[in-house]
Amino acid sequence: MKRRRQAVARLSDLEADRGQTVPLGEGHCTLFLHQGKCFAVGSMCPHQNAPLHGAIIRDGQIICRRHGYRFDATTGNCLTAGGYGLPVFATEIEGDMVYVSYWEADG
Ligand code: FES
Repeated sequence: MKRRRQAVARLSDLEADRGQTVPLGEGHCTLFLHQGKCFAVGSMCPHQNAPLHGAIIRDGQIICRRHGYRFDATTGNCLTAGGYGLPVFATEIEGDMVYVSYWEADG
């Protein structure tokens, strides 16, 4: 496994408190700019696979639009029902650029 770090978005392009899905590696992640921090999570809700693009975040909790399940933006833990975990990725902000780190399988 190799750790990769990718520039994914300009901070100034992100709308506060609303998810924006961007390419990451060979897949995607969804970014949330919230209370001065940037969170990156998997782009699909683990409940029934709804896209998290456009979802809102409130008090550190991402709320899926389909059935309203809530996820802790830091841990990815589902706060509504057991058994649903959302992948989370480390983020860094440098100037106006948002970077996300992820693990890539050795090919
Ligand atoms: S698909 Fe997200 S809460 Fe059901």
